[in-house]
Amino acid sequence: MEEAFMQRTATCGSLRAADEGKTVVLNGWVHRDRNHGALHFINLRDRYGMTQVVVDDDASPELQKAAGELKLEYCIAVKGTVRRRPDDMINPEMATGEIEVKAERIDVLSKCDVLPFMIDEENNAREDLRLKYRYLDLRCNGMQKRIALRHEIVKAIREYFYKTDFLEIETPTLIRSTPEGARDFLVPSRIYPGKFFALPQSPQLYKQLLMVSGFDKYFQIARCYRDEDPRGDRQLEFTQLDIEMSYVKRDDVLSLMEDLFGDVFRKVLNVELPAHFRRLSYHDAMNTYGSDKPDLRFGLEMHDAASFASKSTFNAFTETLAAGGAVKYIVAPKTEGHDYTRKYLGELEAAAKIYGAHGMAWMKADGGTVTGGVSKFFAGMEKEVLAETGAKDGDVILLVAHQDWKKCCTSMGAVRSRLGADLGLIKPGYEFCWIIDFPLFEYNEDEGHWEAAHHMFSMPQAEYLETLEENPGAVKGDLYDLVLNGYELASGSIRIHDVELQKRIFRICNIPDEVSKERFGFLLDAFRFSPPPHGGIAPGIDRLCMIVANEQSIKEVIAFPKNTAALSPMDDSPSPVEEKQLEELHLSIKKPE
Ligand code: AMO
Repeated sequence: MEEAFMQRTATCGSLRAADEGKTVVLNGWVHRDRNHGALHFINLRDRYGMTQVVVDDDASPELQKAAGELKLEYCIAVKGTVRRRPDDMINPEMATGEIEVKAERIDVLSKCDVLPFMIDEENNAREDLRLKYRYLDLRCNGMQKRIALRHEIVKAIREYFYKTDFLEIETPTLIRSTPEGARDFLVPSRIYPGKFFALPQSPQLYKQLLMVSGFDKYFQIARCYRDEDPRGDRQLEFTQLDIEMSYVKRDDVLSLMEDLFGDVFRKVLNVELPAHFRRLSYHDAMNTYGSDKPDLRFGLEMHDAASFASKSTFNAFTETLAAGGAVKYIVAPKTEGHDYTRKYLGELEAAAKIYGAHGMAWMKADGGTVTGGVSKFFAGMEKEVLAETGAKDGDVILLVAHQDWKKCCTSMGAVRSRLGADLGLIKPGYEFCWIIDFPLFEYNEDEGHWEAAHHMFSMPQAEYLETLEENPGAVKGDLYDLVLNGYELASGSIRIHDVELQKRIFRICNIPDEVSKERFGFLLDAFRFSPPPHGGIAPGIDRLCMIVANEQSIKEVIAFPKNTAALSPMDDSPSPVEEKQLEELHLSIKKPE
C-alpha cells in the first residue's frame, strides 16, 4: 500500500502568534514561491487562508532540493515548526502575518501542469477561458469568497425558516410541460414514445397543489430551468427561494419577506434594513423612474413636460401631446469633471432609442436662460422652462416624447440609468422597494392576444372581477415584485383558487377550455376540492447573491454557470449523444440546413 500522505494538523489560515513553537503539518497549494539563494519563501494556500513557509538556508540538502523543485499550484504537505516572524517582517494584511512555518519536510502530493491563468485575487482571463477551467477559476480568492458568501446567505435563509412553522418540501423536476412564460426544457420519455417531461420553470403549480393538500406554509430552495437567452442576471438554470402560504393576503407575504431579508442582512452583512420597504405602484414607478425595477439608490426623477412642451414650437412635442402621447424630462445635474458634450448626449440618445424613443431632445440652462439643442423652440418662454424644471446653470434638460406613455417612460428611464452610473450618483447600500398594483395582462403584439403579465394563476384585484373581459388592459392584479438596487429580486402574487375564475383568465389569454383542460386539468381538478385562498412569492437566490457580492453577473456567484452563448465550455455541453441513446428515446435529429 502507498504510504499515507502527511495529513494537515492546521489549516493555512489558522496559525497565530500563540501557536509559536508548535509542530504542524499544512496541506495546500503553492501560491507564490520566492527564492533568495538558499532561502525559500513559499506562500501556501488553502480555502482558509495563506501561510508563509520558510526553508532556511541551513536546511538539509534534501529539503533544499524539494523546495527548489516546487512550482506554482503544486499541491504539497509541509511539516514544520511555527515561529514568530521578526518584527520588521510582520504582515498586518495577512491573518497569519505574525508567524511563519519553518519547514522540516516538504512532500509533493500532486504536480500542476502549465496553468492557463494565474490563481490570484480575481481572474481577469476572458470568460470562456475562466469557464473552461472553472475548477481553477474557483480557486481564485474572489470566487472562493463569493461561493462562501452564497452559502452563508442560503444558510441564513434556511435558519430563518427553521425557526417558523414553514415546511421545506421538495417538488419534482420532471413534470408536465406547462409553460409559465419562457420556453420549457424538454426531456424525452424512453418508456412512452413521443412523450416528454419538462423541467420546471418554477415549482409554481406544485406549490399551489401543496396548499390544496393543507401544508399551509411551504418553502423550498428550488432549481428552476428556462430555455431563454442568458444575460447578466439570467441563466438557463437558476435557484429560487420558493414560498407559498395559505389564508394570506398580500401584506402578509410582504411582511414575511421584510422580516426574512431583515434577518438575513443582519446575520450575513451586519446591515440593518428598514422594518418596511418603500412601496410604489407600477404606474408611479414607471412614471417617475421609467422602470418597474427602479434603482432607488439615486434620485434623478423624471417629470412630465406637457405643461411647457405643449406651448413650444417643436412639432415633435406638440403633435405627440395633441395625439395623447407623453413628453417627459430629466434634469441632468451639472457635475464636476463631467461635460455634456454632443458625443455624450448622442450616447444618451442611443440608450433611449433602444427602448423605442425616436430621439432625445436637450437644452442647457445657462446664464439664466436655456441654450442649445431644442431651446430655440422655447423662444420667449425660457424663464418658464427654468422655473418649471428647476434647472440651474450648467444643468441639462433632457426630453423624450412618445405616443406611447410606457415607451416614453422606459426610454427616459434608460437615460436615467446611464446618468446615475456615469455621474457617480449611485449611493452604496441596499435600496429595497415593493412594486405593487401591476397590470394583470399585457398585450402580445406579435401574437395578437392578451397574456398574463406575471403568470396565469394570479388573482385580479377585487374591483375588476366583474369586468375582466371588457378591458383586460385596465385590470390590476394582486401582484407584487420586490426590487433591490434596480434588479427584480422576487415576484409573487395572491393566487386564484376558483375554477371558474381560473378558466376566465385562461380564455382571456387565448387558451380555450379544451386546451386548458388538457394542459392544466390537474390544477383545475384540484380546485374542485376546497382549495384554500393562498399566495406566495419567489426571490431569486442568484440575483440576491450577485447584488450582495456587488457583482454585475450572476455567473460570479454560481459555481458552474453556462456562458453567454448558453454553453458550458468546461464539459462542452450541450453535446451530441450516441445514436443508440436517440434510438432508445425514439428520436431522430433533423440536421439544420
Ligand atoms: P418569476 O418568473 O418572476 O416568478 O421568477 C421569480 C424570481 O426568480 C429569479 N429569476 C431568475 N434568476 C436567474 N435566471 C433566470 N433566468 C431567472 N428567471 C427568474 C428572479 C425573479 O424575480 N413562480 C413565480 C413566483 C411566484 O409567483 O411565486 C416565478 O417563478 O429573481
